[in-house]
Amino acid sequence: MVDFCAITLKRPIVNGSGTFDAIAARRAFGVALLRDFPFGAFVSKTITLSPREGNPPPRLWEAQAGMINSIGLPNRGLHGYLEHDLPQLAELGVPLITNVMGSTAAEVSQLVEALDDRDEVAAIELNVSCPNVATGLDIGADPGSLAALVRAVRPLTGKPLIVKLTPNTADVAAVALAAQTEGADAVSLINTLRATALDRSGAPWLGGVTGGLSGPAIRAIALAQVAAVARRVSLPIVGMGGVSSGAHAADLIAAGATLVAVGTESFRDPAAGCRIWEELKSLQIAGSGSTTVNAAQAQVEVDVNSGDSA
Ligand code: FUM
Repeated sequence: MVDFCAITLKRPIVNGSGTFDAIAARRAFGVALLRDFPFGAFVSKTITLSPREGNPPPRLWEAQAGMINSIGLPNRGLHGYLEHDLPQLAELGVPLITNVMGSTAAEVSQLVEALDDRDEVAAIELNVSCPNVATGLDIGADPGSLAALVRAVRPLTGKPLIVKLTPNTADVAAVALAAQTEGADAVSLINTLRATALDRSGAPWLGGVTGGLSGPAIRAIALAQVAAVARRVSLPIVGMGGVSSGAHAADLIAAGATLVAVGTESFRDPAAGCRIWEELKSLQIAGSGSTTVNAAQAQVEVDVNSGDSA
């Protein structure tokens, strides 16, 4: 059992928002999915106030060590989520974290107020880090803008507030600190790194022109940023970025994460969360020194390379 913001999770592995469609998985795997649900809590895809179609296709590019997505937050909107998705997600038998995004504090406030009314929702994650919509990074890249947002929404809910941070900023730890100062209960990181891909004529491949890079290519960056944030704030951290094994999860925990989210790997293997948890347990039982050494090395490299002395 793991305690995260006073929520009890059966395992410290969760999904990254938008990387596991639990409703489709339930249709495909039936009750078998519920017998060994891969995640200790389920994080919803990002919900916006109004329904969104998402970006034009193509939306995915397979990179050498990961993928670029330019999905663009397609979703049913708040009303559709509350009416259609939430009752089905409540049957998963794990705490639900609803991820929301708005372009203004007023929009995010409406979302948070509506979710605060729903007992099925255990916690709310603020997506201030989507590289695939016009205003997605405006708030999350700047400590002052993020502080103003958290200040506005904090009084609107007693549920734990998690702020999902972007790596596309000069100083992610400064943004995390702003979240903590204004009353956030946790931070999650990293979201994807802004990236693009060209076709053979030199034109952008993705319908949205740019997208977000995820997968193995970003794991070392995630480890460094989680370590930097852990040294600057005392909030619980959900660490993610390129996790595909129990050793990768152990590294993020050694760097300061309380929970570890699995994202891109679940596209390849929908049961990855179960496997990663089994591997992590074996490492914890064996008291493996190797993952600790990896994290310690990462910490030293962050110290040397970033000049971050916090
Ligand atoms: O749907 C999306 O494009 C989500 C992106 C993100 O939040 O990183």
